[in-house]
Amino acid sequence: MTIHAHLEKLFSLDGKVAVVTGSGQGLGWGIADLLAKAGATVAINDLDPKTVDRRVGQITDQGLKATPLPFDVTDHAAARTAIDSLADRHGSVDIVVNNAGIQNRKPIVDYLPHEWDALQQTHVGGTFNVTQAAARHMIAGGRGGRIVNLGSIATLSSRVPMAAYAAAKGALTAVTHALASELGRHGITCNALEPGFMATEFTKSLTENEEFSAFVRTRVPAGRWGTPDDIAPAVLYLTSPAASYVNGTILRIDGGTLSYL
Ligand SMILES: NC(=O)c1ccc[n+]([C@@H]2O[C@H](COP(=O)([O-])OP(=O)(O)OC[C@H]3O[C@@H](n4cnc5c(N)ncnc54)[C@H](O)[C@@H]3O)[C@@H](O)[C@H]2O)c1
Repeated sequence: MTIHAHLEKLFSLDGKVAVVTGSGQGLGWGIADLLAKAGATVAINDLDPKTVDRRVGQITDQGLKATPLPFDVTDHAAARTAIDSLADRHGSVDIVVNNAGIQNRKPIVDYLPHEWDALQQTHVGGTFNVTQAAARHMIAGGRGGRIVNLGSIATLSSRVPMAAYAAAKGALTAVTHALASELGRHGITCNALEPGFMATEFTKSLTENEEFSAFVRTRVPAGRWGTPDDIAPAVLYLTSPAASYVNGTILRIDGGTLSYL
């Protein structure tokens, strides 16, 4: 076997059905596009059905496989219905990437209870809703499965006030370890990424802030903002045959940020 054929086998997602939440833009879109390039049928999920359809078109125009799956991850019933219909149509749900997220940077003394709850409902509740619905199919199907959660370096370090976000991402770290343990016996792995400063809509107010951007250029050892292209290959690895023994790992992708004091 040539090295090319060997690598293709190690990283192929042929025949896999993947759901990437919040894949209408940003990191989620980069992840969805790469998983499709690796051969998966990718369900594009986001809030706006028109955005979802546009992204599906961008994948199918490349001769790759994608299907629209718009729903709000905070809606338990909607997540269940959508994931069940995906499994009905495609025969399985093999990969879940819990990426949908929101942010609300403000001092703890100003946080309103419903604002705090919204962060937890989207990141933690959304991960519960989608993962539970998919895990039922993964377990019943007996083909194993892959779950990747989007955490953040904010679990350990914050430059601007974001306690609600840090709480939500910290919970996802804990959930990742718990599910790795609970689901491993079914051949299902659960891992998380901890991105650092990534240039997306999510951080627009920071990328447009020259003082903050100067901080990123000087303080991050890589000397730049991260991009979806820095994140998507790690998701491909964690969802590929190459990572079948990687379970419960938190992979930090921050250009060295947390290693530099
Ligand atoms: N950008 C960063 O610096 C950074 C760093 C660490 C972690 N993250 C995490 O990575 C993930 C993606 O971030 P991004 O930078 O691409 O953000 P983004 O704002 O560009 O994209 C997030 C997407 O999630 C969707 N979304 C939000 N709530 C949803 C819901 N209830 N149901 C379905 N979709 C929903 C949004 O519509 C949007 O398309 C998030 O979980 C975020 O917390 C981002």
